This record gives sequence, C-alpha cells and structure tokens, in this order.
Amino acid sequence: MSNPKFIPYTDFEHLKEEEMLKRSKEFYDKIKKRRTIRHFSNKKIPIDVLKNCLLAAGTAPNGANMQPWRFVVITNKSIKKEIRFEAEKEEHIFYTSRASNEWLKALELLGTDEHKPFLEEAPCLIAIFSKKIDVLPNGEKVKQYYAQESVGIATGFLIVALHNAGLATLTHTPSPMRFLNKILNRPEYERPFLLLVVGYPSENAEVPNIHKKPLNEIADFIG
Ligand SMILES: Cc1cc2nc3c(=O)[nH]c(=O)nc-3n(C[C@H](O)[C@H](O)[C@H](O)COP(=O)(O)O)c2cc1C
Repeated sequence: MSNPKFIPYTDFEHLKEEEMLKRSKEFYDKIKKRRTIRHFSNKKIPIDVLKNCLLAAGTAPNGANMQPWRFVVITNKSIKKEIRFEAEKEEHIFYTSRASNEWLKALELLGTDEHKPFLEEAPCLIAIFSKKIDVLPNGEKVKQYYAQESVGIATGFLIVALHNAGLATLTHTPSPMRFLNKILNRPEYERPFLLLVVGYPSENAEVPNIHKKPLNEIADFIG
C-alpha cells in the first residue's frame, strides 16, 4: 500500500462575487478575440514567451498526473518545409478522395484547401504528441490513462496561453500525421495529436465570417 503525501493548498484566491463577475467577463472578452489564423507573417516569436506558454500547458489536469504529452517546437526552416511537403501530400488525398462530401461541405465556410503555405511562413510549429505509454529511464513501460483527453486539455491551455501572450495560432490536423514521428524522430508510442502553427497574423490576414453558438444552444442549467 502506498502512502500518499499531502500539503496544504494555499494558492486558492477567494474572490468577492463582484470581482468574480468582472474577471469572468474580462476573460470572455479576451478569449472571444481568439481566431484561427491561416495567414501568418514571418516575424519571429520570443522563445521565452513560448516557454512560459508551454509551462502553462503543462499545468493542465490529466489522467493520474501522468502528463502524457510531448511538445516539439520547430523553428528550423528546412524541417518546416519537410512538414509542409508531407502535410500537403496527405491533404491532397484528403481533399480529392479521403474526405466525404459531407465533410467537404462543412469545410466550405472556412475556405481551406490542400495548400498549406503557413507551415513554412509561420515562424514556429508545435507538434503535439500524446503518449500511449511512457518509458522510464530504466526502460520500464508505464501505461498512460486518458491520454487523449489530457492532451486535448493541455492543448487548450496552450492555445489560451499563446493568445493571452499576444500570439496567434492555427490548430492543424493533416490526417494521418504519422509522418511527424519520422521527421521529428519521435518514438512510435508517441501519437501525433495535432500541429499548432504559432506566430503573428500577416498584415492583411482575414478570417472566415463564422459565429459561435449562443449560451442557450451550448449549455443546460438543471436545478
Ligand atoms: C481538432 C481541430 C482540428 C482542426 N484542424 C484544422 C485543420 O486541419 N486545418 C484548418 O485550417 N483548421 C483546423 N482547425 C481549426 C478550425 O477550423 C477552427 O477552430 C474553427 O473553424 C473555428 O474557428 P475559430 O478557431 O476561428 O473560432 C481545427 C480545429 C480543431 C479544434
């Protein structure tokens, strides 16, 4: 039987209701300005900002605290080029045969196609991997729990942290993404989760004119 250790939790901030309302509104006002950007400038991003955002992602709740994620930050031009080449190969198949008509119809509003110049133009790509198992330094294999859910939450933290720090992102999922293991030299037990494109919007960047559902369409209140 293990003997769990506990420490007092003193970091919680008890706020007055007024302050809670103010902060929740301010956060909503800030987060609703986040948009998926598909036109990036080539302006470099400060690496220390990126490191803080990755640390923020690493604080995410996760199954049994296994932290089943791996973030690979790519700024090297030739690696970005290689990723673009492989992603466009998959995307060509996706747009010409793999995607159902229904799927293509759903994508129409976004105006996306098989061309992914942003994979080279943006200063930074973060390949996010989800670990099915972890391998300890002694070679022991450890099963990970709720890896997909956990990595999804950590990715959400990362996107919010980057937005908060003044950076734009694109959540990109060329499918399948196994080519990322090969290019980035990651072990087979790390499954590519998604590719986050990070940078600044180009001067004339545009976004699709789409809208978010109102509260009554996304939430039910019972009680
Ligand atoms: C799991 C996931 C996969 C996505 N894959 C792609 C993608 O491969 N290419 C792309 O252009 N956008 C992709 N997106 C971005 C969505 O299209 C975008 O978030 C959605 O249209 C809402 O727009 P907004 O982020 O500006 O609010 C993806 C988003 C998510 C969450």
